[in-house]
Amino acid sequence: MTYRRAYAPGRLNLIGDHTDYSGGLVLPMAIDLGTTIEFRPAGDTVTLSSEGFEGIAVVSLAKPEAAIAADESWTRYVAGVIAVLRPEIGGTGRVSSTLPIGAGLSSSAALEVAVALAVGFAGTALALAQACQAAEHLASGVPCGIMDQLASAAGVPGHALLIDCTSLAVTPAPIPAAAEFVAVHSGEARSLAATGYAERRSAVEAAQVALGRSLRLATVADVESLRDMGLRRRARHVVTENRRVIDFAAALAGADLTTAGALMAASHASLRDDFGVSTTALDALVDDLSTTPGVFGARLTGAGFGGCAVALVESGRAASVAARYQRAWVLRAAGGARVAEVD
Ligand code: GLA
Repeated sequence: MTYRRAYAPGRLNLIGDHTDYSGGLVLPMAIDLGTTIEFRPAGDTVTLSSEGFEGIAVVSLAKPEAAIAADESWTRYVAGVIAVLRPEIGGTGRVSSTLPIGAGLSSSAALEVAVALAVGFAGTALALAQACQAAEHLASGVPCGIMDQLASAAGVPGHALLIDCTSLAVTPAPIPAAAEFVAVHSGEARSLAATGYAERRSAVEAAQVALGRSLRLATVADVESLRDMGLRRRARHVVTENRRVIDFAAALAGADLTTAGALMAASHASLRDDFGVSTTALDALVDDLSTTPGVFGARLTGAGFGGCAVALVESGRAASVAARYQRAWVLRAAGGARVAEVD
């Protein structure tokens, strides 16, 4: 072997947001944009340069924690993975990516998963995702769920992934030939995402404590009994969103794109009104997409607080829908992370 090439895709979440960290249901797909690392294993330090990121990431295998405090956030992600996996051999590599950074298409999860494979991780897709989720917690301090890393690790071409975040079972769901997906950037960086995300996660946990059960098992009637109006709204989003994921998966299976689009619209309204993670720009973008010919439905995707919306579009029309916007991508469901030894 002269070097190792590790690749990890980003993800686009079709429906099921802010449900993963309470053991709920999500339906993302790994996409055909991702991050590649060409890596030569050797030595006791991981040193990565990059086309797209500032600076060089230098992480000592003995003391990765020191690099978690680095200025460049991408160095922190590399260090987070090293701190979790504790590889015995370092190396030198080059990172390149076709993913837009910080747009809500999981560029950080793709970087983590690619680093893990580059330094020799060889476990299951689930174990890879769990290690990289722990790395994200260390690196960014954001208490994210498992969705992004698991979608990147377990992607299947032509399929979305129905993930049960309680059992961690991943069920590939074929995308009908009549459907295409477009992601459109709202123009807003996700600046409040870190604090807003942690607040939402605490509210969900507080609602579960008040109800004495997981929101995964709660009904809308249970949630309506919560006395705290704020918690009630947050919990109602989670319970109704879990239901929408099931209904959306059934609609995809039956190629009923009208129903799927209506569920996306309902998901956006719930994220906006009950969960409070939309923005004026995302609302305007979703409205605009929803009234565009060929679009069945649209919603914000990922954590919210800026970033992207996703639209479900009639096959053959995605390119013309995307062309209406400054930053938009026609995205296809692609395979998950992989690594190859190259001579
Ligand atoms: C971010 C997190 C995920 C998930 C989404 C919201 O992408 O990393 O774990 O919680 O937000 O659905």
